[in-house]
Amino acid sequence: MRGLNGRCYVVTGAASGIGWACASRLVEEGARVVGGDLVALPAGRSEDSGWPFAEASCAFHHLDVGDERSVREFVDAALQFGGRIDGAVHAAGVASGGPVHLLPNEEWERVLRVNLTGTYLVAKHIVQSMLDHPNLEGPQGSLVTVASIEGLEGTAGGSAYSASKGGVVLLTKSMAIDYAGRGIRVNAVCPGFIDTPMTARVFDGPGLEEVRADAIAEHKLRRLGRPEEIASAAAFLLSDDASFITGHALPVDGGYTTGRDHGVTELMGLAGE
Ligand code: NAI
Repeated sequence: MRGLNGRCYVVTGAASGIGWACASRLVEEGARVVGGDLVALPAGRSEDSGWPFAEASCAFHHLDVGDERSVREFVDAALQFGGRIDGAVHAAGVASGGPVHLLPNEEWERVLRVNLTGTYLVAKHIVQSMLDHPNLEGPQGSLVTVASIEGLEGTAGGSAYSASKGGVVLLTKSMAIDYAGRGIRVNAVCPGFIDTPMTARVFDGPGLEEVRADAIAEHKLRRLGRPEEIASAAAFLLSDDASFITGHALPVDGGYTTGRDHGVTELMGLAGE
């Protein structure tokens, strides 16, 4: 993709799932990448042995996106590494929720702190770094937030998670307006259910096998997405190939949010194997 080679990108939530896939894709595209996560890289993904963070063009740092001091230190470290930050994929997040009368206040606050306040804090410090270090030769920057189909539609038990991701979508659009005049683009990807450790945890409970099958069937392509498929979309939105796209919330969801099927494709003989 155009414009990624040689530029420096930050990826949050980089130790797992979608964040890991985004970091890997950006390195494949020739970018320099600074990853951050609350947890250390898991075994087999250490800085020494794990790709992409074993590359000389990469760095990995501890980061708590809900803690402003940690975000500031992380962005400073990324700036030191890259000289300037050309863009970011903010993939750190947690999944939780439940009907509101059963949802403890602390859990509501934890989800909002990581998913929504975390997006605000990461964007705030990355944008400030872009404004402080203007690019004299090209675009000023591109941010990609990771929302969800659950930020576009309600879901049973979605509560805190849906509220946080709906907030991410509108925060993204507002930031796109605010910084367009400074040449900074801001877009969201809205993944469907993706085959990551987060999804495995969500469906890892008694009686949830059927719910999982049902959720897969809601994707018109009849499967879970792959982290690499979200990374493709994120890399595109960061790249100069997306130079006229800002303020967009892009579903990458195998058709989940296109509309309802109600079994009619089956009646028409179009349901697939
Ligand atoms: P994951 O659980 O595999 O990875 C998330 C990463 O975020 C983990 O490494 C975790 O340690 C990190 N993290 C959590 N809290 C953090 C904090 N306070 N500071 C820094 N890092 C923190 O999950 P996955 O699936 O890769 O999710 C990535 C993003 O995609 C999340 O924002 C999630 O809400 C979103 N998403 C995921 C979907 C899915 O089906 N997996 C669907 C739609 C959205």
